[in-house]
Amino acid sequence: MLNLEYTYSSLRLATYLKSFAQHYRKHNYYYPPSYVLWDCTRRCNLACRHCGASKESYADELSESEVKALVDQIAKMGCRFFAATGGEPLLREDMVRIMAYASEQGMGTGIATNGYLLDEKKAAELKQSGIKSIQISLDGTEEIHNFIRRNEQSYQNAIAAIRHCHNVGIYMVTTATVISKYNYDNIPILADRLAEVGVKHWKVMFAMPIGRAETDDCAISKTQMKQMLDFIKVNRKRFHIIVGENLPWLGKADSKIRQECTFCPVGITTCCIGVNGNIRGCPEMPDTDEFLEGNIRDQNLWEIWQKGFRKYRSAELRQTDTKCKSCSAWSKCRGGCWVMRLNGTHCIKDYI
Ligand SMILES: C[S@@+](CC[C@H](N)C(=O)[O-])C[C@H]1O[C@@H](n2cnc3c(N)ncnc32)[C@H](O)[C@@H]1O
Ligand code: SF4
Ligand code: SF4
Repeated sequence: MLNLEYTYSSLRLATYLKSFAQHYRKHNYYYPPSYVLWDCTRRCNLACRHCGASKESYADELSESEVKALVDQIAKMGCRFFAATGGEPLLREDMVRIMAYASEQGMGTGIATNGYLLDEKKAAELKQSGIKSIQISLDGTEEIHNFIRRNEQSYQNAIAAIRHCHNVGIYMVTTATVISKYNYDNIPILADRLAEVGVKHWKVMFAMPIGRAETDDCAISKTQMKQMLDFIKVNRKRFHIIVGENLPWLGKADSKIRQECTFCPVGITTCCIGVNGNIRGCPEMPDTDEFLEGNIRDQNLWEIWQKGFRKYRSAELRQTDTKCKSCSAWSKCRGGCWVMRLNGTHCIKDYI
């Protein structure tokens, strides 16, 4: 059966991409990003086995006043959404104030958290800040989640955090699960547990080869990947399942697995502000020269946005990757995720 929502979303996306390039040719500046991610700290109260954020650590973090000045810039650019990830965002004692400030500037706000510190009081403060979206990690049922997160309290606290966010009426509460060799078998049971807890939005991501996930080779096998995609297809009736962008096109079944089509938004609708002000496409991209677009302490974000991100906008992969060059699915996949490319797990044709 034709998935109308998916069909409309692919038309919308194609139109946007065309208009993004045309607008630049005509007016010599790019549309602003619609959402900006702030990689706010790499400090963390957990040490998860699959953690990609462990690839870097920083002694120097942007201060509250630097972030607020940045929020001013982002809002002025016309960006609509500002979200914090990490590390663990709730370890920053200024997080609620910064989210409140971004809301006051007219942007939607969100955080991704492990939920460990998200008690009733924190949920109420976040709600009060005007926050729209909270993503809480849950990688399995109790034993599996605690094994992955290496903490015996982490499951209980994450479940409690989901409940607190529901109770205070946060607009969008999403549960996020990273599928890896550690929890693959547990996902169907986890789905039942999530339904009991009242989860409506479930983000599932495939482990990316960075940080501890690189050292530990967390990826699932090709057969497991096929089974996982079938599982998502069936369970879409139970939850709003959002499949992570690190496999932007899932082959012919994409419209049966995803509600809306997706793409790698780097340099087109999003960018990331790193812990020390370095700008790159997304937090998962290593903080190396290959992905660095500038630093917020040297230049303003508008300038970096306009001059940087060339390889994403010029569809460089179409010129440099011989397989992508002749691929009939290019317009849907656009060469896949740059981070998955780091170990060659980016192409869906290698899985299905
Ligand atoms: C980096 S964490 C930061 C927020 C918070 N500390 C947490 O764990 O939710 C954001 C999300 O990325 C996921 N993540 C971490 N390492 C990953 C990897 N190697 N591949 C894919 N997702 C990963 C986490 O499980 C979490 O859902
Ligand atoms: S996944 Fe999140 S909670 Fe786990 S170690 Fe990484 S940043 Fe910390
Ligand atoms: S060959 Fe390139 S464009 Fe085609 S599916 Fe693979 S990664 Fe995507």
